[in-house]
Amino acid sequence: MSSIDSTTSITRRLEGKVALITGGASGIGEATARLFVHHGAKVLIADIQDELGLSLCQEFSSQETISYVHCDVTSDTDVKNAVDTAISKYGKLDIMFNNAGIGGIAESGISTSSNENFKKVFDVNVFGAFLGAKHAARVMIPAKKGCIIFTSSGASVCAMEVASNAYAASKHAVVGLAKNLCVELGQYGIRVNCISPFGVATPLFLRNMTLGKKEAEELISSAGNLKGVVLEVEDIAEAALYFASEESKYVSGINLVVDGGYSLTNPTFANALKSLFS
Ligand SMILES: NC(=O)c1ccc[n+]([C@@H]2O[C@H](COP(=O)([O-])OP(=O)(O)OC[C@H]3O[C@@H](n4cnc5c(N)ncnc54)[C@H](O)[C@@H]3O)[C@@H](O)[C@H]2O)c1
Repeated sequence: MSSIDSTTSITRRLEGKVALITGGASGIGEATARLFVHHGAKVLIADIQDELGLSLCQEFSSQETISYVHCDVTSDTDVKNAVDTAISKYGKLDIMFNNAGIGGIAESGISTSSNENFKKVFDVNVFGAFLGAKHAARVMIPAKKGCIIFTSSGASVCAMEVASNAYAASKHAVVGLAKNLCVELGQYGIRVNCISPFGVATPLFLRNMTLGKKEAEELISSAGNLKGVVLEVEDIAEAALYFASEESKYVSGINLVVDGGYSLTNPTFANALKSLFS
């Protein structure tokens, strides 16, 4: 019976799976942790925000289902320990979601941009993702199966002045890493995919702004191509669920852009024309 035929597996699409989610204490990672648990997975959250991560776990009745490990993704030791903790606690690792990321500081142009910021953004967004994939592969290769997911960004497919050069370059690098790994790890039955969200009003998005969550959502929606809906963390979690579940069992090497078509638009010419008649 295929999973599509079974009502049980549709409602609990990750039954029996074990997932490790970096950046799982907040935003997209948190929403994904909740959704994965709802679908029957055992989830280990890895983050540097210990209080947030632990309080998320306490919302659930059993540590058997969800737990937290302190893990700075820029530290090889921490990432190794997080993967080993998943194995010692839950016996295996099926899903590695390399989601932790930072936006870095807002910059006004390359000539005045900070070298330290560039290195820091790459350290977390690229090196951290690399370490996550490396240690996940260490345990997935012998198991001859697994699923590695990365959170990239709409900035990987659409250049925007508002995204810093460091952030845009780091998110392109994440897609490149995912594609290369898709080819390398296919022989072991390991699938590797990326998710590239449009703006979502998370702490990362709000950090360099004076806006509240609701105002940010209005701003994002007004700039977006698809009208009448607001992109929320749960929508990105659903994309992660698709990659993590058997429904995508032959899908690898994809950069799934969740942006309502924004990256296909270029309104500048239309706006210039409109300004002639306004
Ligand atoms: N929010 C958006 O608009 C948006 C758009 C595109 C892509 N993304 C990406 O989504 C991912 C998740 O971000 P979010 O929007 O949920 O933001 P968030 O700030 O809510 O979550 C990011 C999490 O990563 C953790 N983190 C940061 N540095 C870390 C480190 N060194 N080690 C371990 N954990 C670390 C943070 O503590 C936090 O819990 C990031 O990779 C981000 O670049 C976000």
